[in-house]
Amino acid sequence: MQRLKEYALQLHTINPDQDYPLIDLKEISDQSIPTREDRPFFVFVPTYLDGGNGFETGTTEVMTNSFGEYLLDGDNTDLVMGVVGSGNKNFNEQYCLTARKYAKECHSEVIGDYELRGTDEDIERIYHQLVQVAKNYRNK
Ligand SMILES: Cc1cc2nc3c(=O)[nH]c(=O)nc-3n(C[C@H](O)[C@H](O)[C@H](O)COP(=O)(O)O)c2cc1C
Repeated sequence: MQRLKEYALQLHTINPDQDYPLIDLKEISDQSIPTREDRPFFVFVPTYLDGGNGFETGTTEVMTNSFGEYLLDGDNTDLVMGVVGSGNKNFNEQYCLTARKYAKECHSEVIGDYELRGTDEDIERIYHQLVQVAKNYRNK
């Protein structure tokens, strides 16, 4: 996420006359108290599932539960412009399942995904996707 933020800053600084928005980050942890956000945002969520082997069911979400509560108990689902998932393709059918789950719960879409920590190419691809989706969202 820090690398994505830096990429946005770099584009924004080099091209001041073009629309390259900066990125504000907010990390949700177990200590976060669910509160209603005051503007639309994108969700980035990894996949940590306990059990299941990518082919059979039996998966329990771990690590990202407080994030789910933040979205649902904070009454934030309608503010989600899109969801970006990270995961590992070795998990086959379970790849980025958490992103897919929350996109559905928020009546939103998975607008990007990447494996592990993401490559420089992933960062560029996802940043431009965010810009495009945000533009469409504003024009809706
Ligand atoms: C215990 C554990 C379970 C995982 N389960 C899944 C999974 O079900 N599906 C998936 O796509 N990736 C799974 N992953 C891979 C992580 O989602 C992936 O490494 C992700 O990019 C981590 O993001 P983070 O570094 O931002 O936490 C799992 C990783 C661990 C350590």
